[in-house]
Amino acid sequence: MPTTKTIESLLEHNQAWARRRVEEDPQFFKRLLGLQSPKFLWVGCSDSRVPANEITGTEPGEIFVHRNVANLVVHTDINLLSVLEYAVTQLKVEHVIVCGHYGCGGVLAAMRRNSFGVLNKWLRNIKDVYRLHEADLEACPDEPARARLLVELNVREQVLNLAKTSILQKAWKYEHRPVLHGWVYGLENGLLKPLVTMQPGHDLHPLYRYEDL
Ligand code: CO
Repeated sequence: MPTTKTIESLLEHNQAWARRRVEEDPQFFKRLLGLQSPKFLWVGCSDSRVPANEITGTEPGEIFVHRNVANLVVHTDINLLSVLEYAVTQLKVEHVIVCGHYGCGGVLAAMRRNSFGVLNKWLRNIKDVYRLHEADLEACPDEPARARLLVELNVREQVLNLAKTSILQKAWKYEHRPVLHGWVYGLENGLLKPLVTMQPGHDLHPLYRYEDL
């Protein structure tokens, strides 16, 4: 959807929004200034059509957000790891949500053989998910079905990638939190669909389980 908004209009909107917030609740910003204690960490796609706060009805202060192309959890990504460490260890979130979406450009690009420059290295992670689940994906009746399944499998793998980190395993062992969730969002209907839930202490493949945390 092409936007008619100008850069100036964003700032104007912001002024009106801040004013309205204070009118509705004079303590709104003062309260947030003191402390942020979100219960949720969101790992979602950068796609502009999947705004974490809006689709979940969460207010400022309620959800800690990390977004990247195709909602990946890559163990060498210092950005993701910093967000995860801070959210889990300091903010003590109770839930971590990985949210993918059907029609994800990153996932679709990973299914093709075009080169996208530096993005190739990022998308390679999704190609690995494809290779891991090749039999199921090849069994799909057509390309759209295959793309939808890959979006779902990608979410599941990223949830598993969270569970493989020592950050998560430590929090599970000593504080029995957070719960991990894999969701997928439908661009066509605006609905979130839960795919997978992983409780603290989930039985991981032994190779990924650290015993000396
Ligand atoms: Co996307």
